Amino acid sequence: MTKRQTDDAYIRANLLAWDEVAPIHAQHRQTSLLERFRQPGFSVLDDIATTQLKRLGVAGKNVAQVCCNNGIELLSCKTLGAARCVGFDGAQGFVDQGIALAKAAGQDVEFVCCDAHAIPSDYHAGFDIVMITIGVLSWMPDIDRFFSQIAKLLAPDGGDLYLRTSLYLADV
Ligand SMILES: C[S@@+](CC[C@H](N)C(=O)[O-])C[C@H]1O[C@@H](n2cnc3c(N)ncnc32)[C@H](O)[C@@H]1O
Repeated sequence: MTKRQTDDAYIRANLLAWDEVAPIHAQHRQTSLLERFRQPGFSVLDDIATTQLKRLGVAGKNVAQVCCNNGIELLSCKTLGAARCVGFDGAQGFVDQGIALAKAAGQDVEFVCCDAHAIPSDYHAGFDIVMITIGVLSWMPDIDRFFSQIAKLLAPDGGDLYLRTSLYLADV
């Protein structure tokens, strides 16, 4: 097996595992998240993330989140006034949770189920900000390959990568 084949097998197995745990995560928090996102203006972002995203001019910008899980950070960007928001995650179970939360919040946020290494080309060059947060990089078997995919999402005339790898979710 080549390294690429081994990496691809690992990615597939990892995504199957995430899909398996998605209903367990939902059992613990989906009901309370639905309740919270029904409240206008609800955000899970702490003051630091909120300030940093505002400094990037998130209001009015197109934002993608890769490996977004149930999308609560992306929904919070929408609350901050982001324009087009698209969340990508490889586990359908989490994508479904994100869709339900967006509906509860009354927000137009799109969720796409796909491997981060194979984001459909329709989404390339479409975003001013790409967000990656805690608990993502450690799952990537080849970090150069991962970021070469992320780069494709950013607008060709420049965009920002918002990378936050420390724990910061407020109020969940
Ligand atoms: C620990 S969660 C972190 C997400 C987010 N930072 C949060 O706190 O909700 C990691 C997410 O990455 C997703 N993921 C892992 N590997 C992926 C891949 N290759 N492509 C797409 N999604 C992936 C998993 O399905 C999971 O939802």
